Amino acid sequence: MSTPASTPHTERAEPSGSAARARGLTKAYGSGETAVLALDAVDVDIARQRFTAVMGPSGSGKSTLMHTLAGLDSVSAGQVWLGDTEITGLKERELTRLRRDRIGFMFQSFNLIPTLNARENITLPMDIAGQRPDAEWLEHVIDTLGLRDRLRHRPAQLSGGQQQRVACARALASRPELIFADEPTGNLDSRAGLEVLGFLREAVDSLGQTVVMVTHDPGAAAHSDLVLFLADGRIVDEMARPTAEGVLERMKRFDVLHGAAADPAGGATDTTGPPGPAAAPADPAGDPPADPPAKPTRDDPSPQD
Ligand SMILES: Nc1ncnc2c1ncn2[C@@H]1O[C@H](COP(=O)(O)OP(=O)(O)O)[C@@H](O)[C@H]1O
Ligand SMILES: [Mg+2]
Repeated sequence: MSTPASTPHTERAEPSGSAARARGLTKAYGSGETAVLALDAVDVDIARQRFTAVMGPSGSGKSTLMHTLAGLDSVSAGQVWLGDTEITGLKERELTRLRRDRIGFMFQSFNLIPTLNARENITLPMDIAGQRPDAEWLEHVIDTLGLRDRLRHRPAQLSGGQQQRVACARALASRPELIFADEPTGNLDSRAGLEVLGFLREAVDSLGQTVVMVTHDPGAAAHSDLVLFLADGRIVDEMARPTAEGVLERMKRFDVLHGAAADPAGGATDTTGPPGPAAAPADPAGDPPADPPAKPTRDDPSPQD
């Protein structure tokens, strides 16, 4: 499969509805003085059959957004829908079935079962659900991800990149409607990373799946249809039909706006694009741009978690 660096965004009829949606999505960890507001009243619509990327500094709430949208983590306030089904308030059993039938998840940590070999890990969710994989599709996934000669290896016998590819294959094996991928290329060399990105792109363009991907990499984000930018638990900006250069520029502007040394008027010097995050409607509370000192551990400027 060819995976050009900039994949064309093919025009299609606008699919109806959202694959996932949230209103006032709020998630706090802990309580009292040590409470951390990981998501602060987020409103978001994940368009069906589109590839959405989520970017933002470490600690900005990207993983929490994915987990709460996928029903893997409870919310403190607000509502989440998967398709037409509101999942906030669902009983755990119903939620488990919904996740199993409709969602594939690639975690930041691979979450592979150490006692199972690669092939068993890939088909585990389907085995649990009593579903039989589409053999042709499964073999295609395995070959495209270069796992053919690693299928009998257990996770400990695989490199980090190979484990990531097994996790990718597991998420794709059942062709779920909605795939959440948390930094799926973070541990891959650039060639394997491009393969995974090409695969996610193909899942959307050829198979009509919906992909939401967290990434730190502007080049990876450029494969998406829409980039959502998170800062301090809020969606502060978005960019349709992104390019790597455009995303990089936008991120630099955030560094100015959210950096500790930022001139408060820094955003005003930018005349090249649409209003920056300070003007975004998602920010009615108007917190100061500098990060609050309460959450120093995850707010380091390192791009990696
Ligand atoms: N289980 C948890 N307990 C306490 N705080 C958490 C937990 N998970 C995340 N957080 C905090 O919530 C904020 C958002 O975290 P996260 O969603 O992992 O950010 P990102 O994925 O953007 O790096 C961070 O301040 C983080 O420290
Ligand atoms: Mg994360």
